Amino acid sequence: MLEKMATCRHHCCSSFIFLLLPLLLQFHLGKSDLQLNYYAESCPNAEEIIKQEVTKLYDKHGNTAVSWVRNLFHDCMVKSCDASLLLETVNGIQSEQLSDRSFGMRNFKYVETIKHALEKECPMTVSCADIVSLSARDGIVLLGGPRIEMKTGRKDSKESYLTEVESTIPNHNDTMELVLSRFQSIGIDTEGTVALFGAHSVGRVHCVNFVHRLYPTVDPTLDPHYGEYLKGRCPSPDPDPKAVLYARNDRKTPMILDNMYYRNLLEHKGLLLVDQQLTSDPTTSPFVEKMAADNGYFHDQFARAVLLLSENNPLTGDQAEVRKDCRYVNSD
Ligand code: HEM
Ligand SMILES: *[C@@H]1O[C@H](CO)[C@@H](O)[C@H](O)[C@H]1NC(C)=O
Repeated sequence: MLEKMATCRHHCCSSFIFLLLPLLLQFHLGKSDLQLNYYAESCPNAEEIIKQEVTKLYDKHGNTAVSWVRNLFHDCMVKSCDASLLLETVNGIQSEQLSDRSFGMRNFKYVETIKHALEKECPMTVSCADIVSLSARDGIVLLGGPRIEMKTGRKDSKESYLTEVESTIPNHNDTMELVLSRFQSIGIDTEGTVALFGAHSVGRVHCVNFVHRLYPTVDPTLDPHYGEYLKGRCPSPDPDPKAVLYARNDRKTPMILDNMYYRNLLEHKGLLLVDQQLTSDPTTSPFVEKMAADNGYFHDQFARAVLLLSENNPLTGDQAEVRKDCRYVNSD
């Protein structure tokens, strides 16, 4: 008798879950519409084509991979991962690329190279938003970072949100408190935020973004020898904003997404004020130390946070479209 009740309870319980599960999933709407291999039927080679194009571009211009990583941040942080970043300034649209926060962003034209290859294989099928996410994913691997399994099915916005950029993407001299709250608001915790900064293990920073730490005197939180080296890279306290002078984010392994960034920070060789603050702020510094000591841990956290970033508030269904050209909304 008891036994019978137990099996019944078990049975009823599992059918209850069976009924409830789809309901529970429904509540996640936005997110659950993204799925692994979304293009399995509509464009089975989509992910492979993106990987091939990203690899070809990397072989010709290594820094394209760096750009795809920054694109993910600048696109996904502003409202959603919807390729709003890629829209150009035409027909009443004001591109997010015009913002001061987008300073130094490059290689947008090569997004079109990837899109073109996809359009040839399956016209009007693969979204620019998925190109932003998957190109970052594949770029990360080429730069020696972790492999990340990513869902797809994002749609493209019909707008660019220039006026939202400054209220979402932090500035180089913002406080850690503000930086953490911005990431928190899209569901990324402190540990994940510290890991995402590891993207500054690759690429470059133009002098305008850190000369205030060199002149009139070298910021005491900066290693003095490194300060002198940077003054050599940036000889003017007032660089022409159009000048191309820059320093490598990570002088030792400038094209590898590794934990050298955190080791540099511990040696007081962070370029941006926000970089250096990761080590002085007590909420973030324990994670910096852990990441500096353990590249595997950094990669795990980086992968986790990139995934969260890539799934921020995706557009799905009729809210949006699949652009034909990533630079323009469809004209129909
Ligand atoms: C508070 C957060 C952040 C701030 C204030 C910030 C700011 C900056 C600045 C000022 C530059 C230099 C631009 C230039 O002078 O050319 C830069 C470069 C870069 N950032 Fe960030 N960043 C932040 C977070 C992130 C995150 C989360 C990622 C990606 C996950 C990222 C990826 C990159 C990359 C890859 C570059 C190098 C770009 C290149 O060489 O073309 N950043 N960032
Ligand atoms: C931060 O830097 C910008 C220039 O990029 C400058 O206009 C602003 O005054 C600085 N803010 C602070 C708090 O220093």
